[in-house]
Amino acid sequence: MKPKLQSDYLGLDLKNPVLASASPLTGDLDSLKKLEDAGVGGVVLPSLFEEQVEHDEMETSRLYDYGEANSAEVMGYFPEVEDYRQGPDEYLDLIRKAKSSLSVPVIASLNGHSPGGWSRFAAMMEEAGADALELNVYYVPTDIEMTGEQVEKRMVQLVEEVREVVKLPLTVKVGPFFSSLPHMASRLDFAGADGLVLFNRFLQPDLDLDEMKIVPHLVLSRREEMLLAFRWIAILRDQVSISLCGTSGVHDHLDLARMLLAGADAVALASVLLREGPGHVREILDGLKRWMEEKEYESVEQLKGSFSQANCPDPAAFERGNYMRALTHFTSDWV
Ligand SMILES: Cc1cc2nc3c(=O)[nH]c(=O)nc-3n(C[C@H](O)[C@H](O)[C@H](O)COP(=O)(O)O)c2cc1C
Repeated sequence: MKPKLQSDYLGLDLKNPVLASASPLTGDLDSLKKLEDAGVGGVVLPSLFEEQVEHDEMETSRLYDYGEANSAEVMGYFPEVEDYRQGPDEYLDLIRKAKSSLSVPVIASLNGHSPGGWSRFAAMMEEAGADALELNVYYVPTDIEMTGEQVEKRMVQLVEEVREVVKLPLTVKVGPFFSSLPHMASRLDFAGADGLVLFNRFLQPDLDLDEMKIVPHLVLSRREEMLLAFRWIAILRDQVSISLCGTSGVHDHLDLARMLLAGADAVALASVLLREGPGHVREILDGLKRWMEEKEYESVEQLKGSFSQANCPDPAAFERGNYMRALTHFTSDWV
């Protein structure tokens, strides 16, 4: 019997747990179709950034001020800034086009860090037909006065704000840097998130020594990066009931299987698809099916979480004990 790959993620009935994560591949209709042809379970569109929304609103405001100063009649044609559906129209267009040409779920993505009016853009994404919304909270606290509690509160408020304006399934993409990730996960759940995406990759700036300037440093992920999400998904799976999606460093069907065993409901891929092309989804899915047959798993639902912290033979392996064991058993064979 062929293994069943269906997976429930955010209440969406995915035909399989592989999502194309937000990247340039999902911003183009042609490659979106290729991803669907290769069998992807769903797609996450590239993020619309808080700064883009704010920039657009500022431009509209400026236009409004200019018009008001110059001609009262002209302003009759301009709706009030409050009501005006401004914002990157292209993004809403992409949602509409993706929805009309794909049959798999289309997840829109908003990327920001501060509570504020910009988050109402989420409602426009819902209206444009998105099946779910991924809120990518990318924030680098650099202010010495800011406490951990303030950082977390700000994130929770942002999620509450977005939750207030949309009924859509809402998932939050976070980084790993919290003093207590399980507690934060439960706060986000309480604030209205239906899922978490673990983890955002915080790209580090680099110093170009020829130009003597700081430059962005974007590199595709390495396989080892998936171990961080693998561990935390295994720990969280037994403690929260919201959906979990793993991202960062999953490059083949074996790491996909590891994430599902830990308790992921979906796994979002970017680097491997950018490197190998959208058609690579097929190989990963074929590999997963073969592996499940070999191991006699009948369905992804059966696989999910069967190696979470509570379900694995050695729960302490996810905690401090494993670190101590690794350091004390180090041999030069590992190098
Ligand atoms: C070129 C590029 C662009 C990306 N753009 C976005 C984005 O707009 N929004 C977002 O949430 N993540 C974005 N990501 C992150 C990916 O969606 C993904 O979560 C991350 O790369 C980890 O997965 P991977 O190891 O499979 O690449 C981008 C990644 C890359 C490489």
